Amino acid sequence: MTTNDRRDFIKQMGGFSAGFLALNGLDTQWLAQLEGLNKEVDELSPLEAARYEPFWAQIQLAFRQSPHFINLENGYFSPQPLEVMQAQVENIQRINEIPSFYMRRRQAEEKQGVKQQLAHFAGCTSAEIVITRNTTESLDTIIAGLDFEAGDEAILCDQDYGSMQQAFQQRVKRHGLVLKWVDLPLVPKSDSEVVELYEKAITPKTKVMLVTQLINITGQILPVRKICDMAHTHGVEVIVDGAHAFAQLDFKIPDLNCDYFGASLHKWLCCPLGAGILYVKKEKIEQVWPLFGDVAVPADDIRKFEHIGTHPVATHLTISSAIRFHELIGSARKEARLRYLKDYWTSRVKELPRVVLNTPLDADRSCAIANIAVEGMTPNELATYFYDKHRIFTVAINRESVKGVRVTPHLYTRIADLDAFVEAIRELVS
Ligand SMILES: Cc1ncc(COP(=O)(O)O)c(C=O)c1O
Repeated sequence: MTTNDRRDFIKQMGGFSAGFLALNGLDTQWLAQLEGLNKEVDELSPLEAARYEPFWAQIQLAFRQSPHFINLENGYFSPQPLEVMQAQVENIQRINEIPSFYMRRRQAEEKQGVKQQLAHFAGCTSAEIVITRNTTESLDTIIAGLDFEAGDEAILCDQDYGSMQQAFQQRVKRHGLVLKWVDLPLVPKSDSEVVELYEKAITPKTKVMLVTQLINITGQILPVRKICDMAHTHGVEVIVDGAHAFAQLDFKIPDLNCDYFGASLHKWLCCPLGAGILYVKKEKIEQVWPLFGDVAVPADDIRKFEHIGTHPVATHLTISSAIRFHELIGSARKEARLRYLKDYWTSRVKELPRVVLNTPLDADRSCAIANIAVEGMTPNELATYFYDKHRIFTVAINRESVKGVRVTPHLYTRIADLDAFVEAIRELVS
């Protein structure tokens, strides 16, 4: 986003958000200050901007969080910036004032406008995306909708998200699909090590693989583009779980060269709960059965996946505000800041005795999320220690392949919060 674009946006925001300004105390002064700071960070590289605290202090003001504990569990879903939350309230009010009139006369046009904005943000056309409720709906639509014959194979990884594993397991029970499992190392040495693991699992019967772009329990980023390119040379399709990657990492969906992609917008795009995206490559749309039968639109039309009945439209409309807020920061700068926050605390604890980090720390292999274990403690004991003793909220991960505590700072996390977290670890292991 250039300074001029940003200026236009800030003007627009000043216009549409009069109610929000009054309600939340983020007045035009806040926007003007942000614009001033933006001019300063525009001079900096994303890496330099990631450390420019006056800018982030201003962004932190856009979120209102409980002062009673430090929330380092932002992987579940994101709080909305005040502006986005207020837009949601205004959308609900507006629809409630003209309920069925809105649904019959306005809904389609406004939703299409938001869909176009989201498609542009994702780098594709609105003919390839659907707004869903979440990643689960997006990816399970594909997993349930592909035709498989008994004996066909699908490749998954032991660290993929449970709901997608279960959707595949249902296909095993119903249609005799066979699952092949990749055993992903916590800290791979290179991209080719990861690509080869997926390649080795391919047989002549392999039809599809699921690849998680950013593993939720450890924060590991997979070389998705390389995996997709490799899979396609074997005629294998790739479903990408982008739940945590979308709007955390700076990329466009077509960069991945995947066939199908799903993400939740209530994670890193900071939308209200219940918003997701499904992308299907144009030429693949026809072969996937929609979850809810739809024969009214042609089989090769993405809108066949939109047939969910009456739903909270206000949430869809609010995606627009979330995109605008995201673009105030910019994708590259946001990714760099989130990575900086993770680096800040991990670099201060990684050499301490008993501390084990279950996350690869090289820049392109993780971003906001990391997973820490302390020898001699179970994940639950560690998470309980952080919360009960220090009022720092994290989440215990107790899986066969990963045992530790997931730590996820957010844009609103202050460096002082991370210092407190580092101190809590030092106190524990010293
Ligand atoms: C990697 C991954 N995939 C899928 C999901 C499911 O997201 P949702 O519950 O929003 O559908 C999550 C949720 O945390 C996740 O981390």
